[in-house]
Amino acid sequence: MDYFFKNKMIAITGASSGIGKALALAALEKGANVAVCARNFEKLQNAFSQDKGADRLLLFKADVSKAEDCKSFIDAILSKWGSLDILINNAGISMRAMFADLDLNVLKNLMDINFWGTVYTTKFALPFIQKSKGSIVGISSIAGYRGLPGRTGYSSSKFAVQGFLEALRTELRKEGVHVMWAAPGFTASNIRNTALAADGNAQKETPLEEDKLMSAEQCAEIILKGIEKRKRTLIMTLQGKATVWMNKLFPKWMDKMVFNHFAKEPGSPFN
Ligand SMILES: NC(=O)c1ccc[n+]([C@@H]2O[C@H](COP(=O)([O-])OP(=O)(O)OC[C@H]3O[C@@H](n4cnc5c(N)ncnc54)[C@H](OP(=O)(O)O)[C@@H]3O)[C@@H](O)[C@H]2O)c1
Repeated sequence: MDYFFKNKMIAITGASSGIGKALALAALEKGANVAVCARNFEKLQNAFSQDKGADRLLLFKADVSKAEDCKSFIDAILSKWGSLDILINNAGISMRAMFADLDLNVLKNLMDINFWGTVYTTKFALPFIQKSKGSIVGISSIAGYRGLPGRTGYSSSKFAVQGFLEALRTELRKEGVHVMWAAPGFTASNIRNTALAADGNAQKETPLEEDKLMSAEQCAEIILKGIEKRKRTLIMTLQGKATVWMNKLFPKWMDKMVFNHFAKEPGSPFN
């Protein structure tokens, strides 16, 4: 058991699958008190069937695109445990469609969940994190450093999350609050199945071989280590690091490289 997380109060949004679920299970294993939310409560309960009912676990139904749900989630944590040390803004969805074909509601939906969900939850959690001098974390993406074709809404939302967290970190610099965003590489999860197509329906398939990607458990361990070490940012893979640096140095060349990479995906909407 990891001493750092023992008895810490941790809130994780979007924890019924993938990275959020792995983060929650790992934090429970390390002795933390963990509050998790998602829209589908039955799926959330099933994800924690082993720990359901445990005093160190709080399951909550919330849609982070609704400010009132985010407030109720934080209120429920405070009334159960009285404090909050770490907020991990993880809930997110993706998309795959050309902007020219896109129903604008798709882009709005992504901003509402990925960006506004982070803003709302952080707003309601902030006074308690200020008190505990704890951590505010955003699960971003390489798409928050480099605009990705077919993912205009996703990239917009992740750039916005990073800008928001960087500004917030600067505001809080004298308060001892830790602010970090993490940019996982491609990680095995449900995110490509739920990614929205041009018409707003889930694409219901993944173009990647999920079993060849980093596991959600590995990704969660790196994020928890980053929180423990109070890192500013985490870019988790070599491919991610190369993309960020090459984009700083050779942005025009990267337009071509990134286009070619995503054009090769099965079912790509452009080529
Ligand atoms: N997997 C990757 O390759 C990858 C790479 C980079 C970054 N990320 C980021 O990692 C985060 C987690 O994604 P994942 O890959 O683990 O995907 P996932 O397996 O699809 O999990 C997403 C989670 O978010 C929840 N969620 C979605 N919309 C929500 C809403 N409006 N309110 C509350 N919860 C909501 C989902 O539950 P419900 O549907 O029941 O609400 C689910 O629990 C996302 O922010 C994603 O952008 C993922």
